[in-house]
Amino acid sequence: MYYFLQTIPGLGPLAWHEAVGLLAKGKNVAHLTPPDRAIRFVPGRNDIVFIETGQSGKDLLKLRITEDLFAVAVRGFKIAPDTQGLRQIHASVRNSRLVGDALNAWSKATGNKRPASTFRVVVREIGKHEFRRRDIEKAVADAVTAGWPGKWREVAEDAEIEVWTTLFENELLCGVRLSDAKMRQQRGPKTSDAPSKWQHLPAALRPALAAAMIQLTQPSPDDLFLDPMAGSGTLLVERAMAGPFGRLFGGDINGPAFTALQANTEGIKGDVSCERWDARMLPLPAQSISKIAVNLPFGKQVGAGEDLPKLYQAILKDLERVLQPGGLLVALISDQKTLEIARAKAASKLRAGPNYRVQVLGQPAFICTLSKAV
Ligand SMILES: C[S@@+](CC[C@H](N)C(=O)[O-])C[C@H]1O[C@@H](n2cnc3c(N)ncnc32)[C@H](O)[C@@H]1O
Repeated sequence: MYYFLQTIPGLGPLAWHEAVGLLAKGKNVAHLTPPDRAIRFVPGRNDIVFIETGQSGKDLLKLRITEDLFAVAVRGFKIAPDTQGLRQIHASVRNSRLVGDALNAWSKATGNKRPASTFRVVVREIGKHEFRRRDIEKAVADAVTAGWPGKWREVAEDAEIEVWTTLFENELLCGVRLSDAKMRQQRGPKTSDAPSKWQHLPAALRPALAAAMIQLTQPSPDDLFLDPMAGSGTLLVERAMAGPFGRLFGGDINGPAFTALQANTEGIKGDVSCERWDARMLPLPAQSISKIAVNLPFGKQVGAGEDLPKLYQAILKDLERVLQPGGLLVALISDQKTLEIARAKAASKLRAGPNYRVQVLGQPAFICTLSKAV
């Protein structure tokens, strides 16, 4: 069975890695394409990762670095850039042999026993074509109605099935969406938690990005994990979701953020302590923490009128102090240079590791990894 998942630009390799880990736990791993062939890019929008497995799509819905999951329904190649291309798209969608499996995967993943009958088409186009996006949508919709098993009606809203169509230059990919909006929304530490119960803050991380940062901390059961500027607590919740831990520490300087942090982390099972604190003077002993993940403020003026370079220096200095030798720090930042200067000036025991370029709300950002010298 063929699936693909979508994530934030830059997270494709980490999402691939998470999928490998999940599939390795199952019994029916068929084959996983290596990352250089499995990952495709929709510039500025998404990274797409292809997965081939005997495992059900329902299992794949557990992936955290993924924002949406699809069953592959159509693949088409050598699509012409002129109106001939529209006829090829129609024929590829109408005659695809993958449709039956994709519709079955939808039934299994969503628990729907009755076949679906309404659909809508979502189109993205990469490259130059002589036709418009609307023409692609019509070619796909006509082909679904004419050729897919069952009776189909295209609707603008509340469709049972969403057929996500991407035309990468001359290559066509259609997927039936298996996930719903919940997969990409913030929610509490239990799988049953509804996103509506989450206390939102404006600068909150997208959960998939937080999950990617947590993967880079290499979670292990004895982790003494810290988020010193935890905001609404996304990183702490994702750490709890990633498996057993020793203890979680989180705090924030801001009153409303601290209230949200307490509420959102309340359901985490295990040892969690949250405090209202200043990350420049953490009330934690030296070398008491083994892993840190932090979403550092991006803005120019932050906190008590201090500028970003000064704030980064003060924070890195204290993070270096509380981190055990060999401990890991994963930071999301917008400006690598400011972090590097702060590290060199105030926290030279922290050694820079690999960095990952990602996009946050259309802006470039970096996940930087550092480790404390032994
Ligand atoms: C970019 S937000 C973090 C968002 C968080 N990762 C989430 O998903 O909600 C940065 C946070 O740092 C906090 N902050 C700013 N200066 C701080 C300081 N000196 N000590 C502790 N927290 C601070 C802000 O109140 C804000 O909540």
